[in-house]
Amino acid sequence: MDFPKDFTWGAATSAYQIEGAWNEDGRGASIWDTFTRQKGRIEDSSNGDVACDHYHRFKEDVSLMKEIGVKAYRFSVSWSRILPLGRGKINPKGLDFYKRLVDELLKNGIIPFATLYHWDLPQALEDEGGWRSRETAFAFSEYADVLSRSLGDRIKHWITHNEPSVAAFSGYQYGDHAPGVKDLKAALRVSHHLLLSHGLAVPILKKNSPDSEIGITLVNIPAEPASKSAKDREAVRSFDGYYNRWFLDPLYGRGYPEDKLGEYIQSGDLPEREKSFIKKDDLEKIASPFNFLGINYYFRLLIKNEILPNGEKHFASVPPKGKAGYTEMGWEVYPAGLYNALKRVSADYNPAKIYITENGVSYSDGPGKDGKVHDAKRIEYLKNHFLEAYRAFKEGVPLKGYFVWSLLDNFEWAKGFSQRFGIIWVDYKTQKRIIKDSGLWYRKVIEGEKGLE
Ligand code: FCB
Repeated sequence: MDFPKDFTWGAATSAYQIEGAWNEDGRGASIWDTFTRQKGRIEDSSNGDVACDHYHRFKEDVSLMKEIGVKAYRFSVSWSRILPLGRGKINPKGLDFYKRLVDELLKNGIIPFATLYHWDLPQALEDEGGWRSRETAFAFSEYADVLSRSLGDRIKHWITHNEPSVAAFSGYQYGDHAPGVKDLKAALRVSHHLLLSHGLAVPILKKNSPDSEIGITLVNIPAEPASKSAKDREAVRSFDGYYNRWFLDPLYGRGYPEDKLGEYIQSGDLPEREKSFIKKDDLEKIASPFNFLGINYYFRLLIKNEILPNGEKHFASVPPKGKAGYTEMGWEVYPAGLYNALKRVSADYNPAKIYITENGVSYSDGPGKDGKVHDAKRIEYLKNHFLEAYRAFKEGVPLKGYFVWSLLDNFEWAKGFSQRFGIIWVDYKTQKRIIKDSGLWYRKVIEGEKGLE
């Protein structure tokens, strides 16, 4: 591997997953505070009230980053710390926390990459309809304005949204994430308002944070047909349109994919064009030029055609034939999928810059008798994915950086604390941190790209 010297090796987290301090210093509630308190939502009935207590321990966490040698840190800002009701009254203590965090990063030579929205909508906005309401997109632009006016001098890398597809579909179609709604119609409205809010925020961030780079992070799920049949290939088109193109196409100025628009209008999940919530000029705003595309990659899917008796779905994913490795999330280990995702996105959309904003793995290895965490399988996983990213880079993909998910073991949404993605192990009782073998190995990679032979 021979990435350029300025290749941005980093690590990533998100606010609700690590911060804790859920009701301190004026923070308002978010939809995840509400959701985690509802019975049966979270596998181990846990919540992010304390999580990694990063709010109080951020200095220690920055010093661990420094020890590992990451060049950049991707974190997210909790909207309801800044604007406890989602809009209107500003909470200076919330802004102050992120100032202190960013100053600590800069002092240690670590570049901050700030994500504005990693799924934690202020509950007050949800009470007014949340992302189903067009008004929420405007509240988001107010939040982007407040945040960038205050931190725009220090932060030069902004990510508007993390995985809007997951925010829309897990939050509003499957209901396994907050706010727990199960309604495709709602999810499609939500997806549009998320994209619109991105488009509204881009010029604001540019204005308030001169010379900064702005991006959006999408999860990419490369889909392959489960067989050679025309039906399965057709199912791949449909899935890819639903999860990947629905977001990429409008961001890159092509509007929503016609095939999906047609399908949804026909099924009644989208209103007829004249009555649509997709207003004139929205698409132009959504396509507001931005600087980089963030890609999160975890797995591919093998898709087969399947129409349920109620006619609802026309695709299903099936396990690969033969031997395959799986993570503790039940996700197939498939490094070549990262290469495929990078190549495809760059061939079809030609982004000027790409960052892998998340990739990593959940294995539960904890400290052994020697007090160390020997997570050899994570090293293997990361190594194979790094090599696939490098293969794509060598073939011309404009890859500028790679953020490992995650810096710390943390609250894994509906799975609670049952999954450990960190390169740093966290004891949730004592809040003790131990850099895992993978973190020590990552340091060598960053230093001189050793350990990859
Ligand atoms: C991604 C999320 C991140 C984390 C990983 C495992 O979809 O962005 O917060 O949960 O999955």
